[in-house]
Amino acid sequence: MLLCHATALIFFLYIYFSDTEGLFLRSQQPYAIRGETFTWVCNKRGQQNPENVVFLKFGNGRSDINSLCTVKMGMSGCMSMVSRYSRYKCGCINNDTSSMYLNITNVHGDDDGKWACKQSSINTVYPVYLPVYYGPENVRILANTRGRFEFTEGDNATLTCDADCKPQCNIRLYNKTINISDTSSVNKKQLLSSNGSLSLVNISRHINGSTIICQAIHLHPSFSGTSVTTEIKLKVYYVARNIVFSTTNNEAVIEGQDVNITCSSTDSCYPPCTFKWRFISPHRYYPSQYINHYSRNSDIGILSIKSVNRRRSGEYRCEASNSRHSRLHKYRNLILTVCYPPQIKYLRSDATNNKINEGSNITLTCSVDSVPDSNISWSRSKESQLPTIGGKLFIPIATCGHADDYTCTADNGVGQPDTETISVYVRCKLGLYCSKVENSEN
Ligand SMILES: *[C@@H]1O[C@H](CO)[C@@H](O)[C@H](O)[C@H]1NC(C)=O
Ligand SMILES: *[C@@H]1O[C@H](CO)[C@@H](O)[C@H](O)[C@H]1NC(C)=O
Ligand SMILES: *[C@@H]1O[C@H](CO)[C@@H](O)[C@H](O)[C@H]1NC(C)=O
Ligand SMILES: *[C@@H]1O[C@H](CO)[C@@H](O)[C@H](O)[C@H]1NC(C)=O
Ligand SMILES: *[C@@H]1O[C@H](CO)[C@@H](O)[C@H](O)[C@H]1NC(C)=O
Ligand SMILES: *[C@@H]1O[C@H](CO)[C@@H](O)[C@H](O)[C@H]1NC(C)=O
Ligand SMILES: *[C@@H]1O[C@H](CO)[C@@H](O)[C@H](O)[C@H]1NC(C)=O
Ligand SMILES: *[C@@H]1O[C@H](CO)[C@@H](O)[C@H](O)[C@H]1NC(C)=O
Ligand SMILES: *[C@@H]1O[C@H](CO)[C@@H](O)[C@H](O)[C@H]1NC(C)=O
Ligand SMILES: *[C@@H]1O[C@H](CO)[C@@H](O)[C@H](O)[C@H]1NC(C)=O
Ligand SMILES: *[C@@H]1O[C@H](CO)[C@@H](O)[C@H](O)[C@H]1NC(C)=O
Repeated sequence: MLLCHATALIFFLYIYFSDTEGLFLRSQQPYAIRGETFTWVCNKRGQQNPENVVFLKFGNGRSDINSLCTVKMGMSGCMSMVSRYSRYKCGCINNDTSSMYLNITNVHGDDDGKWACKQSSINTVYPVYLPVYYGPENVRILANTRGRFEFTEGDNATLTCDADCKPQCNIRLYNKTINISDTSSVNKKQLLSSNGSLSLVNISRHINGSTIICQAIHLHPSFSGTSVTTEIKLKVYYVARNIVFSTTNNEAVIEGQDVNITCSSTDSCYPPCTFKWRFISPHRYYPSQYINHYSRNSDIGILSIKSVNRRRSGEYRCEASNSRHSRLHKYRNLILTVCYPPQIKYLRSDATNNKINEGSNITLTCSVDSVPDSNISWSRSKESQLPTIGGKLFIPIATCGHADDYTCTADNGVGQPDTETISVYVRCKLGLYCSKVENSEN
């Protein structure tokens, strides 16, 4: 762009001022290259008295004009040169007072700007812009996040690469990381972006350790593809995705047994995680307490309880975390059920002293504590198994024949079944109690 503008400008000035008297700058190239030599040619057009010729450089300010080199003219033509700067040399070309040169050796960045040449007594000038090309240099990669190229899995980030170049360089980002098992990829870089901007969405652990190269290439022909590269390494922190137990998520053990449940992950954490078990409910028993002792960077967590007690039933959590990266944690819950055999808390009836009148109803209630729940069955001395299942036995419109010993049996498959017996008395219409079982009267 700059190149085109400069060329157009010079061309335009040439056409426009070709009929005008004055001094005009020309050059072979419409740009200078930093560090190299550049030559301005100042041509006189029209009839003018031989007079000193001054090469001017305009600064940024309006009145900021520097006289850098003066060609002194005498009666007999070109005399000498005056310059305060060793980099600037001027004179007449072939001892011709209508054609002067200004040689700039070791072009500097601040030679970039507008130039002109003029006769010392004439104030009209025709400035020409000279761009100074350079680069690439100061190639740098930046991330739009705080941590320097350190991310957490799932983050989004944009990497941008910049370089100091004139005219602008072409900037490319490559993945340098070589896949060792793929021989064809060795020394082959994978192009990630050809505009210097790389968007990383939902950053994955797979890019951890990747080396990103930024290459700034000068495409201007005078630089013949000069390129400078810089590289950075990506770091991605992540936590295990998949936590597993050595048992099911819903584990039942029998009271008195030892519990030994291991928690680990099928994938890894970076940096390494610590696995901790915590009892989370019901809180009244062990408020938010860590169950096991854990060591730093242990890659498993063990829930270990000797001779487990029924109050240890509840929900446990195994958490994988890294204390330095609090955002990185993952957990899985486990329900521990401690089973124990049935114990009949009471067996009673809704009748005073278990005595009812003939024709009344009576309900027997058998209350059992057990985990898991028990199957409750009923029997009586006269009849081994009653059809009723469950904690309540209802006897409607009792008759004399219902007077008996009733037994409640609770069985949950853990340990021995528990039994309890209750005697039911039925008062006959005659006011007498029906004889129950003979031997239970004492
Ligand atoms: C330049 O030309 C003048 C006369 O026109 C002459 O006196 C002078 O010596 C010349 N200088 C050189 C370097 O040829
Ligand atoms: C000025 O530069 C040109 C080429 O850039 C060179 O040929 C010439 O000798 C130089 N003249 C002086 C006086 O340095
Ligand atoms: C990353 O970008 C995606 C889609 O652009 C968005 O769904 C996700 O929430 C972003 N993640 C973060 C951590 O901002
Ligand atoms: C590396 O190359 C091998 C062979 O081409 C391929 O099977 C494997 O998936 C590549 N690994 C990565 C991480 O790209
Ligand atoms: C750079 O190129 C990518 C496609 O390769 C595009 O998505 C992105 O918008 C471009 N960025 C800029 C700043 O032009
Ligand atoms: C981010 O990538 C992970 C796999 O690495 C995927 O499971 C998840 O759904 C992705 N999230 C988004 C918002 O795309
Ligand atoms: C770079 O290439 C390696 C190997 O093919 C790959 O595992 C990694 O994900 C790539 N990184 C990026 C940022 O694309
Ligand atoms: C992630 O990359 C860093 C280098 O950037 C490396 O030191 C570390 O071992 C890598 N982590 C994993 C788990 O590959
Ligand atoms: C718990 O089980 C692990 C293997 O699953 C075993 O290595 C360890 O010795 C067991 N600990 C106890 C106290 O039984
Ligand atoms: C006894 O139970 C029967 C149903 O079996 C009911 O109809 C009757 O009302 C009950 N009698 C009393 C006194 O609750
Ligand atoms: C409880 O009763 C159910 C249904 O009859 C039966 O499947 C189960 O095995 C019984 N449990 C015990 C511990 O007897």
